[in-house]
Amino acid sequence: MPIVTFGSSKGGAGKSTLCGNIVVQHMANDANTILIDSDVQRSSSRWAALRSQQGASPAVTCFQKVDDTPQGNKSQYGQDILTLNKNYSSIFIDVAGRNSRELRGAMLVTDLLVYPVRVSMFDLWTLDDDMAMLSESRIANPNLLCMIVLNDVSPHAAKRVTEVQEAMEYLSQYLHPGMTFVAETRIHGRSCVKAVVSQGITVNEIARKDKSAKQSIDEFRGLYSEIAACFGQA
Ligand SMILES: Nc1ncnc2c1ncn2[C@@H]1O[C@H](COP(=O)(O)OP(=O)(O)OP(=O)(O)O)[C@@H](O)[C@H]1O
Ligand SMILES: [Mg+2]
Repeated sequence: MPIVTFGSSKGGAGKSTLCGNIVVQHMANDANTILIDSDVQRSSSRWAALRSQQGASPAVTCFQKVDDTPQGNKSQYGQDILTLNKNYSSIFIDVAGRNSRELRGAMLVTDLLVYPVRVSMFDLWTLDDDMAMLSESRIANPNLLCMIVLNDVSPHAAKRVTEVQEAMEYLSQYLHPGMTFVAETRIHGRSCVKAVVSQGITVNEIARKDKSAKQSIDEFRGLYSEIAACFGQA
């Protein structure tokens, strides 16, 4: 499996949350997987460290990697990712929620950008700059796929319909079939998705699975299937 980046310039969209839940599922298919934490806030690194302390299996190998190229020099970040790609069969990158050198660098070498977005206009409005960056990245990286994932969707049916409809209408201007698309799976906002982080686990590993946890598990499985399908692995 190629390089998958969880990225957007909007903070708090759900990049680290989605990334952890997807990486662990992917490790069942490919143990030679690495998670690269390219955020100085170290959310993924802390989660992976906690995961090992708790003895959760599989342990996730997580490296912190930020672009520390001196000002004025050509960035080595993308090249370093490609070098790691020789030693690992799958690379997942979690970047910071801002227009960072790491986000820009990752977009030059990644095969799939997973782009979580909350279904509020404040979040959706940030797409314009990111989608422009995506188009520019495709000049150097023409096969770059972008999967937009609606995250933190309301679990309440009536509210959800309006939220999703508004979001889809807004997003339609950015979609290019087969290149930039919206995942069919939507991740709903649920307390269990937040709660598992402090235990270093994923929703699939919750000990007592109530109805809400089961729904989240199904959603993350669905999302992983869609990601794997991008690489003919579904
Ligand atoms: N589907 C969800 N249901 C409930 N809580 C969620 C969901 N998705 C994300 N969260 C919560 O929202 C917050 C932000 O999520 P997360 O840290 O994954 O975002 P991020 O995009 O990685 O943020 P940053 O840009 O700061 O790196 C966290 O507290 C997380 O637990
Ligand atoms: Mg994060």
